[in-house]
Amino acid sequence: MDYEGIGAQALDSIAAAQDLDTVEGLRIALLGKQGSISGLLKTLGAMSPEARQANGPRIHALREGVTAALTARKAVLETAALDARLAGETVDLTLPAPERPRGSVHPVSQVMDELAEIFADLGFAVASGPEIEDDWHNFTALNMPESHPARAMHDTFYLPDLTAEGREMVLRTHTSPVQIRAMLATGGAQPVRIIAPGRVYRSDSDATHTPMFHQVEGLVIGKDITLAHLKWTLETLLKAFFERDDIVLRLRPSYFPFTEPSVEVDTGYSYVDGRRVVGGSGDAPGHSWMELLGSGMVNARVLTAGGYDPDEWQGFAFGVGVDRLAMLKYGMNDLRAFFDGDARWASHYGFSPLDVPTLSAGVGVTA
Ligand code: PHE
Repeated sequence: MDYEGIGAQALDSIAAAQDLDTVEGLRIALLGKQGSISGLLKTLGAMSPEARQANGPRIHALREGVTAALTARKAVLETAALDARLAGETVDLTLPAPERPRGSVHPVSQVMDELAEIFADLGFAVASGPEIEDDWHNFTALNMPESHPARAMHDTFYLPDLTAEGREMVLRTHTSPVQIRAMLATGGAQPVRIIAPGRVYRSDSDATHTPMFHQVEGLVIGKDITLAHLKWTLETLLKAFFERDDIVLRLRPSYFPFTEPSVEVDTGYSYVDGRRVVGGSGDAPGHSWMELLGSGMVNARVLTAGGYDPDEWQGFAFGVGVDRLAMLKYGMNDLRAFFDGDARWASHYGFSPLDVPTLSAGVGVTA
């Protein structure tokens, strides 16, 4: 028998195998139970002892050679398969990442941050109060007793339950109750300089009114605070906020139960490319006045309700609509879009996902 010839032929076909299935097929055909080399081994039993002694080592060598060749070929093909897979699965890190939906800072948040920033430079602290307020803080303490007609002006949302003390609960109709809370917190003995930004609620809805909107309240209490301080503060605020020096204010006598005297503050504006732009006197050609906020000197009754002696202390307060300020500064025309939660709307008006402070420090204050 030409065992060496059979071996050489087997090694040739193993070397020619191009994939692992072929190698496995060869293993079964050569070394399996019915395999050709297994068959050769079986022939040993029928041989004479001399023939067996001569052929045994040759057949065993044949089987070992083939086994080693199969193992080696299998390893080569496995490595090649792995290499091919790794090459096919490489990630191209230079490809642009898929776009993710991006949110945006809301104009109201942006404006509140801007106002807080400006007022921080003027030495104001930020105060807050509950949105579900009792009617004493929201009305009575602000010189609007139960029968007061101004209560009806506010289109108040009342809650069904009373407080433990039997007071009616409302969704606060303005941020002014925070004035009372801020005054009571000092014990009536210290100057106050706060702003209170927050949500307020009135049963009202059209293109310029939404049932929930935002205000910033301001309150300054001291021993020698006058209307001149109020005017300077508002002028400084609006110049910093609108980032222009030509802001002209007009103070008009008005009425609020919680301030005396009360002044409504108008600002001059004109239309530029169909948009209202604040700046200049409302009496200048092409200009008009627009009402911007309510303010006044804190009513003596309000000081008393806040625990301050009106013979010793006085101060000013103002309340301004944040949504309106945002519309004016950023040129939006429909208030309702503020509450649609559409990120495309915010980015259309230039708001980005990151809240980047836009106003510089050091506004109007000298040490
Ligand atoms: N609270 C008033 C409003 O909501 C605004 C205001 C605040 C007026 C403080 C005067 C002083 O209309």
